[in-house]
Amino acid sequence: MRIRVFNGPNLALLGKREPGIYGAEALAAIEARLAARAAALDVALDCYQSDVEGELVRAIGGAIGAADGLIINPAAYTHTSVAIRDAIAATGLPCVEVHLSNIYRREAFRHESLTAPVCLGVISGLGAQGYELALEALVHHLKSTRSH
Ligand code: DQA
Repeated sequence: MRIRVFNGPNLALLGKREPGIYGAEALAAIEARLAARAAALDVALDCYQSDVEGELVRAIGGAIGAADGLIINPAAYTHTSVAIRDAIAATGLPCVEVHLSNIYRREAFRHESLTAPVCLGVISGLGAQGYELALEALVHHLKSTRSH
């Protein structure tokens, strides 16, 4: 089972960026913990981060034929990017959207996700643990829908 993880703009700054909202942990630490969990679940995990919309679109498209499922935190592009939504839909792969913060408790402009409708589900507000919960949910979904 192969799962790709995509993180959008400003998430490379995790740990330094508004820690009261996004937590004190760096992205590298979150990804390392996720990789350990993936190894325990016998999942091949690949993590990618970019601040650039077009790079994310290209990387998501690159998952076609190379991954069985996706986890994405599109960050600010969640609320603006038709291109990222279309890229996720184009893969035809199950995708779990993750947000560290609870986007529904925050400013009104964060309440709409353009990407959520093309995702299997959304985990929002549970901090970095959301990525691990997404991984477990995706593995469960993939196991129950096909054989790997
Ligand atoms: C975020 C929420 C977004 O609204 C914000 O633009 C981010 C991070 C989150 O993980 O809580 O950059 O996706």
